[in-house]
Amino acid sequence: MGMMGTGPTAIVTGGATSIGAEIVRSFAAAGYRVAIADIARAEGEALAGSIGPQACFLATDLAVDDDIARCVSKTVATFGKISVIIHAACSYVDGGVAASRSDWRRSLDVNLVGAALLVREARPHLLTPGASIVFIGSISAKIGQPGRWLYPAGKAALLQLARSMALDFAPSGIRVNSLSPGKTWSAPLQRKHENNRPRADAIEGEFHALGRLGDAIEIARAALFLCSDGASFITGTDLAVDGGYSAMGPERMQVQNPRAS
Ligand SMILES: NC(=O)c1ccc[n+]([C@@H]2O[C@H](COP(=O)([O-])OP(=O)(O)OC[C@H]3O[C@@H](n4cnc5c(N)ncnc54)[C@H](O)[C@@H]3O)[C@@H](O)[C@H]2O)c1
Repeated sequence: MGMMGTGPTAIVTGGATSIGAEIVRSFAAAGYRVAIADIARAEGEALAGSIGPQACFLATDLAVDDDIARCVSKTVATFGKISVIIHAACSYVDGGVAASRSDWRRSLDVNLVGAALLVREARPHLLTPGASIVFIGSISAKIGQPGRWLYPAGKAALLQLARSMALDFAPSGIRVNSLSPGKTWSAPLQRKHENNRPRADAIEGEFHALGRLGDAIEIARAALFLCSDGASFITGTDLAVDGGYSAMGPERMQVQNPRAS
C-alpha cells in the first residue's frame, strides 16, 4: 500500500478528544495528513474515521517508549516525512503536597518527558528545513495554583524545554514554540460546569480580560499559525492564547480597589 494522499504530515498527541481533537480537525482541514497519538482508542478511531484516509489513529501511551517508537515509524510509513508535531496530551493527575512519587512520574511522563522522547524519536524524520513543533503549555506554567504541584511544574518545564530545543534545532530550520491557553471550553471544564457554557463563562470569565472562556478552535487556529509561513521568524517563544489572563495582575480589571472608595 502506498502513502495516503499528499500534503504535510502532523502528529498530534492527545488528539483524540477535546482541544487536541479540534487541532486534528483544523490541521486536516488545512490539508495536513494527521496521525492522532493518544490512549483514548474509541474516541481516536472515531475521529480518524470521520476525517477519512487523511487521518489515522495510533494507540500511543507517551509513558511507554515502544509506543512512541511505533507511533513515529507508523506515521512515517503511512504519511512520509513529518512536518509538524503538536503535543497536546496531558495528565491532570495532581494532589499537590499529597502526590506520591508514582503520581509525579505519571504526570511528568505524559506532560513533559513523553514530548521530549517523541521529538527524539521523530528527529531523523522531521522535514528540514521547515518542520515546526508546538507544545501546548498553559496559564498554569506561569503562576502558582493552590493544591496543584505536578501539572504546573510540568507545564513550566515544557515551556523551558521548547526554548532549549529551539536553539538545538534552529540550524536545521526546525522551529519550536509553546502555546499557552487560558481556560478553554473543553472536556474537563464541560464536566466541571455540567455542560453549562453561560455559567462557565460567567464564572471562569472573571479571570480573563475578554470576560469568557476560550474555544478549542481558537487554540487550534493559533497552533496552525505557529506552523505556518506566517510564523517563519518565530522560534523559542511562548504564545499566550488566554484572552488576557496573563496580562492581568492582582488588581484584575479594577481601576481601584473597591475598599479604597
Ligand atoms: N482545558 C483547558 O482549559 C486548558 C487550559 C490550558 C491548557 N490546556 C492544555 O490543552 C491540552 C488539551 O487539554 P484538554 O483540556 O483538551 O484535556 P483532555 O484531558 O480532554 O485531553 C488530553 C488528551 O490527552 C490524552 N492522554 C492522556 N494521557 C495520555 C498518555 N499517557 N499518552 C497519550 N495521550 C494521553 C487523553 O486521552 C486526552 O485525549 C493539554 O495539554 C492541556 O494541558 C487545557
